[in-house]
Amino acid sequence: MSDKERANFGSKLGIILASAGSAVGLGNIWRFPCEVGENGGAAFILVYLVCVFFLGVPVMVSEFLIGRHSHANTATAYQILAPRTPWKTVGLMGVFAGFLILSYYTVVAGWTLEYMVSATAGRLSGAKDFTRHFNEFVANPWKPVLYMTVFMLLTHAVIVRGVKDGIEKFSKVMMPMLLLIIGILVVCSFSMPGSSEGLRFLLKPDFSKITAKVVLSAMGQAFFSLSLGMGCLCTYASYFGKEANLMKTAGSVALIDTIVAVMSGFIIFPAVYSVPGLSPDAGPGLVFVTLPNVFNIAFGNIPWLGYLFSVMFYVLLVLAALTSTISLHEVATAYIHESYGISRRKGAYIVTGGCIVLGALCSLSFGVLSDFKLGGMILFDCFDFLSAKFLMPLGGMLISLFTGWYLDRRLVWEEVTNDGKLRISFFRFYIFLLRYVAPLAIGVIFVNELLRS
Ligand code: TRP
Repeated sequence: MSDKERANFGSKLGIILASAGSAVGLGNIWRFPCEVGENGGAAFILVYLVCVFFLGVPVMVSEFLIGRHSHANTATAYQILAPRTPWKTVGLMGVFAGFLILSYYTVVAGWTLEYMVSATAGRLSGAKDFTRHFNEFVANPWKPVLYMTVFMLLTHAVIVRGVKDGIEKFSKVMMPMLLLIIGILVVCSFSMPGSSEGLRFLLKPDFSKITAKVVLSAMGQAFFSLSLGMGCLCTYASYFGKEANLMKTAGSVALIDTIVAVMSGFIIFPAVYSVPGLSPDAGPGLVFVTLPNVFNIAFGNIPWLGYLFSVMFYVLLVLAALTSTISLHEVATAYIHESYGISRRKGAYIVTGGCIVLGALCSLSFGVLSDFKLGGMILFDCFDFLSAKFLMPLGGMLISLFTGWYLDRRLVWEEVTNDGKLRISFFRFYIFLLRYVAPLAIGVIFVNELLRS
């Protein structure tokens, strides 16, 4: 397909909002606060920031330049840049990982949709055993499957509209809404009595908490949160115009992503600490079990405010998840469409159908299929492990090696500086990070993760 026929994002703002939409997701609002809670607060955040800006941003720029230079889906991109070499496998691995991530990610996205509906209908108010409520819901044989399917169809509806009229247009509406909601919730959370305890937890680093395990978690979290290692941003960058500044875009996306993650901490922890007896290290249940309690107890005497807070919070989760599932869906859709000459519409149906089947299996692995285990894990955990702990770090490492060592330095320079039009002062530092720091750091962490599991 020639470049002229290929769709493009229409504006710089569209590029940033779509990419930030991919990055900002459940990883920021659900997983980040969990990790912060379990790994000791501020110290974790500091390590996380180092990982984002010294490992994440260089890998992101690499994905951007691979995508934009080749103007093709991630599998074809490697074929164009490294014809007749095994590098193509990196792209294919990305498509495969995208499929797996989309399948299990949408299960959790479906839970957020159910919570949004329940919160709106007022079913989350009143004293309740939310642990039981959550456990019963996820193990239910049809309800979570239904919500997962609805979420996948919502994603599908955006994807079939195309790159400019679907992805870009929706990102331009959803991202500002998301940022606005976050702003309102932060103010609400700060104004709760007792919230200063939560702030202290987030702002006072205790360096004794930084262990090897914390560093590993921070880096895994940074990669997941920035959507790196499997060609997601590479696919988006294939729709970037030639005037886009790749370094600046990567910096902005990383900044927005980090701000949203930290703000989510600022929403959740002051709120959780304002209720005595609730624990901040509740793990994955933080958002689905602890928070509904917070909404009820903390706002006990002003129920309508608790109601509003909870509805806005779950709308926020749904919006964030949706912009991410869209980006995951696009990786596979673009691949099928361009590599097999199938229309984009049909390609999207294949991805949606396949992921609904896999997603249903993942969802059922919390209930009726809980005895079916692969490598000792239920299917949901297995998909998470295989993609987030294995394929993504491996992909991230290979991407940095590809740009740092394999690609012609001139080509990299031309992409990063837009043929010399932009002045980039950190170019050598960037190459240094890609050649040595990123592959080594990711490699060490990767091997460690594998040995631990
Ligand atoms: N970054 C998203 C989040 O934080 C999830 C996501 C979207 C993702 N695309 C990805 C994760 C690609 C890994 C790879 O929720």
